[in-house]
Amino acid sequence: MSTTKRFLAMLLLGASAYGVPSPSTLIANIPGRTTLSLNGAWRVIVDPFDNGKGGFFRDQKARSKSDLVEYSFDASPVLNVPGDWNTQREELMFYEGPVWYRREFSHRKQPGKREFVYFGAVNYQAVVYLNGEKLGEHEGGFTAFNFEATSALKDGENVLIVEVNNLRRADGVPALKFDWWNYGGITSDVSLVELPGTFVQDYLVQLERGSTHQVSGWVRFNGPVPHHEVTIQIPEAKIEYKTLTDADGYAKFGFDASVLACGKRPASQCTAPLKLWSPENPKLYRVIVSGEGDSVADKIGFRTIEVQGMNILLNGKPIFLRGISMHEEAPFRGGRAFSQEDAQTLLGWVKELGCNFVRFAHYPHNENEIRLADRMGLLVWSEIPVYWEVDWLNPATLANADAQLRDMIARDHNRAAVILWSVANETPVKPERLTFLTQLAQDARELDSTRLITSAMNHVDNTAPDVRTLNDPLGDVLDVLGLNEYLGWYGGRPEDADRMQWKSALSKPLIVSEFGGGAPFGRHGEADERWTEEYQENIYAHQLPMLERIPNLAGMSPWVLMDFRSPLRMLPGVQDYHNRKGVISDQGQRKMAFYTLQKFYKKMADAGK
Ligand code: GCU
Repeated sequence: MSTTKRFLAMLLLGASAYGVPSPSTLIANIPGRTTLSLNGAWRVIVDPFDNGKGGFFRDQKARSKSDLVEYSFDASPVLNVPGDWNTQREELMFYEGPVWYRREFSHRKQPGKREFVYFGAVNYQAVVYLNGEKLGEHEGGFTAFNFEATSALKDGENVLIVEVNNLRRADGVPALKFDWWNYGGITSDVSLVELPGTFVQDYLVQLERGSTHQVSGWVRFNGPVPHHEVTIQIPEAKIEYKTLTDADGYAKFGFDASVLACGKRPASQCTAPLKLWSPENPKLYRVIVSGEGDSVADKIGFRTIEVQGMNILLNGKPIFLRGISMHEEAPFRGGRAFSQEDAQTLLGWVKELGCNFVRFAHYPHNENEIRLADRMGLLVWSEIPVYWEVDWLNPATLANADAQLRDMIARDHNRAAVILWSVANETPVKPERLTFLTQLAQDARELDSTRLITSAMNHVDNTAPDVRTLNDPLGDVLDVLGLNEYLGWYGGRPEDADRMQWKSALSKPLIVSEFGGGAPFGRHGEADERWTEEYQENIYAHQLPMLERIPNLAGMSPWVLMDFRSPLRMLPGVQDYHNRKGVISDQGQRKMAFYTLQKFYKKMADAGK
């Protein structure tokens, strides 16, 4: 059913008529595949008037001295990939528009193999050409995508050209206004992936909700051979399970790990075959999915996450999420973070704060961060950039948001660290928004029944003097409520928190997903002097005890780990195009509030929370 028809059905008949989103075309677990990295220096042409649309993808060269060709990649400067263009060339810091990228590479084609070009992320729109042939186009700045290149690829020299355009769009996701820098470019890894004729496209291997030994999931193959055997192996736990795919190369499965691991041994001799993943013990198992000539190995943790009343349960036990929010901004150099080193530095600071949880705001972050969180034992809130206002009544906008949701889930649904999918941040309470987000929440459940669905909300009623109640109808379709509140910064004084009582209309677990205030590192003064570290620290000092009084508080992720670039923050000498609400500066300097929060989390951890 076309997106427009699905959308009209949804408007007229409600979310259930919208149907199930089509499966992602993303190839899972690229780190576990045979790949040729295409990272490095790419030639680029900055094309503000999109003049290249007519022919740049052909990479024409003057063939004779009288030939007229008015562009040349060979003579053009380079930009590093991965990397945003804004922080690589000063004159591009504020640039929004088309940029053409070219990468030449040589490749020996292998008989019977298929090749795909894979992009970790390109902001915002990408049109991809190989040897002059269009492979495909993608919209959305933070989710991975791949296109088959088998027929366009040559044995020998190849030319890959990508038109990238980060122009903001009113019907985009996000739309025209957001509080982070609109870094443009090929901002994550690019690789050529070589695969067998029929290959393991994607798989889900997780514990069923509420069970510590029932493993379930599915495997999807891509290729001409239906009805073949699939094997799931977890060697360390002595688990091997076999099943058959259907006519479409899809196999759903479920098995009891205890039974499989025990084999003929008496049950008494083999308890808990799978050690559960947790922040204290982020145990990852080597899991091999194979069939029909392809085999892919991954590192997967097994844990359960669920809601019980007002508690979030990890592996069946209540857990308090000691967190922090963070942007995918590179420490020290600025720009979009992408590397292992960036992830190590940022998540190292998260751990140093005493956190067991991190909110990746407001869009899917790179795979290096997610996989490091898996290894480090950090629980993750992952979000799609339905931020503030989007074009709620536009079917294309919904399809775009849905595709970003689907691809976010497809890339990370085997990561034990990820426990929450967030469908939006700070969106206005109105019917068309509720319909839009209800659809996304429903689709998220369809795509992944093992995790919790949430959203950061800020619609609050002043139900009595000093009483504020989170009251948003969106809460009905969520498992966990997210509350953004800025008492003491965007309203009131920090001390007002001492009297304030927060409530929520729904008795579901609540995460205070944002609170905080801004101060450039090193700016000192009275605690009531805005923009000083003392003022920021004063907010934390009064907020933390206030939050502890919230009956259904299950976690928090103050805003924000590190100062980050934003076009909305222009106060000279203070903000200088940076949001200064970090508890750490963009140069890694810890502010007073960092230590207040660290002390609070230590107290909680010592108390077993
Ligand atoms: C908002 C928003 C953030 C923003 C923050 C702020 O709540 O969710 O993206 O940066 O507040 O105002 O600093």
